[in-house]
Amino acid sequence: MTTRTLFMLPGDGIGPEAMAEVSKLIAYMNSNEDAGFKTEEGLVGGSAYDAHGAAISDEDMDKAMAADAVLFGAVGGPKWDGVDYDVRPEAGLLRLRKDMELFANLRPAICYPALAAASSLKQELIEGLDILIVRELTGGVYFGEPKTITDLGNGQKRAVDSQVYDTYEIERIAGVAFELARTRSNSVCSMEKHNVMKSGVLWKEVVTATHQAKYSDVTLTHMLADAGGMQLVRQPKQFDVIVTDNLFGDMLSDVAAMLTGSLGMLPSASLGAPDAKTGSRKALYEPVHGSAPDIAGQGIANPIAMIASFAMCLRYSFSMISEADRLENAISTVLDKGIRTGDIMAEGCKQVSTSEMGDAIVNAYAASGQA
Ligand code: NAD
Ligand code: IPM
Ligand code: MN
Repeated sequence: MTTRTLFMLPGDGIGPEAMAEVSKLIAYMNSNEDAGFKTEEGLVGGSAYDAHGAAISDEDMDKAMAADAVLFGAVGGPKWDGVDYDVRPEAGLLRLRKDMELFANLRPAICYPALAAASSLKQELIEGLDILIVRELTGGVYFGEPKTITDLGNGQKRAVDSQVYDTYEIERIAGVAFELARTRSNSVCSMEKHNVMKSGVLWKEVVTATHQAKYSDVTLTHMLADAGGMQLVRQPKQFDVIVTDNLFGDMLSDVAAMLTGSLGMLPSASLGAPDAKTGSRKALYEPVHGSAPDIAGQGIANPIAMIASFAMCLRYSFSMISEADRLENAISTVLDKGIRTGDIMAEGCKQVSTSEMGDAIVNAYAASGQA
C-alpha cells in the first residue's frame, strides 16, 4: 500500500479547531479507502513560541521538509503581540514558505451556488464566480533586504522594507499562472504598479516576455493593482487567473475571499518547483484566513477553508483527483442542504458548530464513495 506522509501544523486560535475536521477525513480515508496517510503533528506559531521560544523549531522544520505535504492551520493572536519580531508567530509561516521554496501560492475564489446570497456583493455579480489568484510567495517586500528599523538619534526612527524581485522569480510565477490558465478559461491578468514601482516595471516586462516566448495562446492583460482591487469588487467575473506579487496577492486574496461569502471559505496551496528527477514538489496547504482570535475556542469557526485546502492537497500533492472532486462536491452538497456555520448563516438554514460541519462533510464524502 502507498504511504503518504502528512506533517500537520495546526498552530493557534481556530487553526487546531479547523484541523481537527481534516483529521476526521484522514481517519475515514485511511480506514475505508486504504489511503495510507501517515500523519505527524508539530508546533508552529504562538504554540511553538510558548514551547521553545521560536515560531517553529529546527526539528519541525526538518519534518516539514521531509514530508510529502504539510497541512497548516493558522498562527498568531493577541497573546503574542509583544514578542520579538523574529520569533513572532507569523515568522514560523514565513520560514516554512522561504525554506521550502514555496514560491507559488494558489488561492482559488469560488462561489458555491448555495452561497450566492452570502456575499456582500449583489448576487448576480458573484453567481458562478471562479477566480484563481496566483500569488508570488517567497519574494517581494516580505523578504527583501534591507528590512530594518533604525534609530536616527533625533527622536525619530526610520523603518525600511524592501520590495525586491529578480527576473527568474517573476518568470517562474508567470509560468505557473499561464500553465494553470490553460486548464481553465485561458486568460491571465497580471497586476502590479509599474506607474510607481521599479519592481512593477520589471514585473510587467518579464510577464510580457514570458507570454510572448511560451504562452501566446493564453490571453494576457495587465492592470494596475489598485485598479485591480476596484475591479474585483465591481465586476469580479471578468477575471480568470490573476498573477501578482506577494503583498498585492495577500491583499487581493482577502478581497476575493469576501466575494465568496466569508474568509472561512478560501483555501490555498503553496507549491515549490517540481523536482527535476521525480517531478514531485514541496507543498504546504493552508486556509487564507488567520487564527480568528475573536471566535477562537468557541467551536464555531468555519472549517471549510481548511477542508478545501486538504482537497487541494489531494489534487496537487497526491494526484488523488477523484477524491479531491468528491471532497469538493461534498462541501457543495452540505451547503446545498442549508448546513451553515455562523459566518455564512442565512435565513432558513441550520446553524452548526465547527465539528458538526466537519461531520456533515465527512458523511457527504463517504456517501459519494458508496454511490
Ligand atoms: P483573521 O483571518 O484571523 O480574521 C478576520 C475575521 O474573519 C475575524 O472576524 C474572524 O472571526 C473571521 N474569520 C476568519 N476565519 C474564519 C473562519 N474560518 N470561520 C469564521 N470566521 C472566520 O484575520 P485577523 O483578525 O486580521 O488576524 C488574526 C491573527 O491571525 C493575526 O495574528 C494575523 O497575523 C494572523 N493571520 C494568520 C494567517 C495564517 O496563519 N495563515 C493568515 C492571516 C492572519
Ligand atoms: C496570509 C497571511 C500571512 C501573509 C501572514 C500571517 C504572514 O496574511 O497567508 O495571507 O501575510 O502572507
Ligand atoms: Mn493574508
